[in-house]
Amino acid sequence: MQKVIDYFFRNPRFFLIFRNKLQNNLISEKNVIRKRIKLNKNSKMLDFGCGTGDFCLLFDMSQYTGVDIDDKFIEFNKSRFKGYNFIKVEEGKSLPFRGSYFDKILVFGVLHHISDNSIKQILMELNRVLSDSGEVLLYDQLPSDEQKKFFAKVLVKFDRGKFLRGSEQLKILLKNHFKIKENYKIRSGPYTLCVFVLKKS
Ligand SMILES: C[S@@+](CC[C@H](N)C(=O)[O-])C[C@H]1O[C@@H](n2cnc3c(N)ncnc32)[C@H](O)[C@@H]1O
Repeated sequence: MQKVIDYFFRNPRFFLIFRNKLQNNLISEKNVIRKRIKLNKNSKMLDFGCGTGDFCLLFDMSQYTGVDIDDKFIEFNKSRFKGYNFIKVEEGKSLPFRGSYFDKILVFGVLHHISDNSIKQILMELNRVLSDSGEVLLYDQLPSDEQKKFFAKVLVKFDRGKFLRGSEQLKILLKNHFKIKENYKIRSGPYTLCVFVLKKS
């Protein structure tokens, strides 16, 4: 069963259709981005683990860079969003950007795909490429005991990401690398999501 689910969700087209239906075209997420990410003309923003790259359209193409470890998603995005910058990255390697390059970083629904062994290096890299005055806007799905809707409790059990962490666990992890400026929960479709606004520490 899990293998079948993983097979479909690694297909960018299937992922896009399913995700938009389930999470109401990502309206909650887009509202959080619009409210929290205001860019100046020369600002740069990184969408880490960009998946199908839908958030790029909220930004000018000169400001946006999306990265993902899955080349199927990167190729899919390059053909859908011509002129936008999408780059394949590799887990365990440094991000291909100089220090302090980005003013804003989005990490939406990515951490539950990353093991405890890898996460420290990734958070250090995100801290390195964030400017001193920059901010990270991050959310992650919560595990079933912190989901409110029964359907979400079931869905997270079958999620491709196998490292769902509770809100307190996420807080402890993130505190080791960033200052937590804000932390709250939002609903997106059936899911309860834990949102963090982080500053460089
Ligand atoms: C649930 S999807 C979320 C996609 C997108 N952020 C969104 O909200 O629509 C998680 C994405 O993180 C990517 N990912 C997982 N581990 C990663 C890593 N170490 N570096 C970059 N991307 C990663 C996956 O390939 C997948 O596309």
